[in-house]
Amino acid sequence: MQLTSILLLALNLSIAVARNCRNITIQVSIESRNAEFSLSPAQCDSEVADFLLSAAQQGHNITTSVLTGYKTVKGQYDIAATYCTPDGGPGKAIQLLTHGIGFDRSYWDLSFNNHNYSYVDQALAAGYSTLSHDRLGLGQSSRGHPVHEIQAPLEIAALKSLTEALRDGTCNGILQKFEYVFHVGHSFGAIQTSALARLYPQLSSGLILQGFGHNATFVPYFLFGGNFVAVQGTPRASEYPAGYLDTASMMGTQQNFFSPGQYDPRMLDYAFHHGQPVTQGELLTLTGSAGGVNHFRGPVFIITGSRDLPFCGGDCFQTGDPELPSIMAASAHAFPDVNRFEVDVVPEAGHGMNMEYSHSYTYQQMLRFLDDTLKDNVALKMKTPFSPRGGRW
Ligand SMILES: *[C@@H]1O[C@H](CO)[C@@H](O)[C@H](O)[C@H]1NC(C)=O
Ligand SMILES: *[C@@H]1O[C@H](CO)[C@@H](O)[C@H](O)[C@H]1NC(C)=O
Ligand SMILES: *[C@@H]1O[C@H](CO)[C@@H](O)[C@H](O)[C@H]1NC(C)=O
Ligand SMILES: *[C@@H]1O[C@H](CO)[C@@H](O)[C@H](O)[C@H]1NC(C)=O
Repeated sequence: MQLTSILLLALNLSIAVARNCRNITIQVSIESRNAEFSLSPAQCDSEVADFLLSAAQQGHNITTSVLTGYKTVKGQYDIAATYCTPDGGPGKAIQLLTHGIGFDRSYWDLSFNNHNYSYVDQALAAGYSTLSHDRLGLGQSSRGHPVHEIQAPLEIAALKSLTEALRDGTCNGILQKFEYVFHVGHSFGAIQTSALARLYPQLSSGLILQGFGHNATFVPYFLFGGNFVAVQGTPRASEYPAGYLDTASMMGTQQNFFSPGQYDPRMLDYAFHHGQPVTQGELLTLTGSAGGVNHFRGPVFIITGSRDLPFCGGDCFQTGDPELPSIMAASAHAFPDVNRFEVDVVPEAGHGMNMEYSHSYTYQQMLRFLDDTLKDNVALKMKTPFSPRGGRW
């Protein structure tokens, strides 16, 4: 008995430090109904400024004003991903992690301070496998036209493909079939995660939406806060074509993602230097995909910092309605059929939750929520996996 506990303790310790991670490339054949816009990729900072001024103009909707129609975009793309498993095998479930604007998949596995801020490490220690990916168009994933191609609908199609491949056990190099596939997204990644569950509710066991809300009132703060410029004039010019916008200064990263006094200044430096750009097509389709009632029936957890900029304008508790405890609480109306709905507004945290001192609390809550959904049987079990789609992957 004593020996067993010592053994278990030893196992636990080794799980906490081991990293069984592997980089893979997943080829997806996808199509989506994208918007067509009468807009050319911004060639210089002045064109970016004009674009942002129109995108943030109160009482106007740039998406409708430059929309000329819709077109089916179809193609084969490479998605760069990192697959990690706990020491003891594939774990009790897999979490599909989708990053937001300004980052790549490393948002979930920050190497800063010896991986001490890594969500992936905490998830592995809690017995989950993880698949994080660079969203289509970014990082080491395929590029595409920044106005007409790299838009939310095509990225959601890519997320759907990744999910199906995982569920069916046909993902490059991942032979395991998973009974539970949780989707975890940050910011724009949370918007896509929520959209996936709205469009294909049978594809997810449950959702965690981090740094997310339904109120688009304050998105213009983010558009200006980021100090976005044309990527051509930045150190990432060789990696991206015109039409990608990058954050010009560390101050832009700070304003959009960090809350006063809540972070290690070296982390801000790290975040700025690991930053990634955003396409004009993404900004034009940013909020459209989050809208509408979501009839997903599984569990949903929204966790957002109280000083979140894009979804709360810096204070999620200021709702103007004594009946409404937070701006996030209003999202309950958008998920009328879920079997569990929780909101956690983390005091004083900013939008880049994984990068602040409160990350430990945030991760504990996220993993606690998933554990509870499994324990209480509210996580949706994936139906018997489809037969493998020979050769398609
Ligand atoms: C996976 O790729 C990323 C990005 O290039 C790199 O930082 C990381 O070390 C790689 N991980 C493994 C396990 O090879
Ligand atoms: C702007 O219009 C688009 C589509 O025409 C819509 O999806 C989007 O939600 C609108 N944006 C806002 C902020 O209302
Ligand atoms: C968004 O939040 C602000 C501030 O709480 C509030 O005034 C506004 O009515 C909200 N908008 C929507 C559409 O809920
Ligand atoms: C990372 O280190 C800080 C300070 O040393 C600590 O407060 C925090 O809990 C650690 N994070 C995790 C997830 O262990």
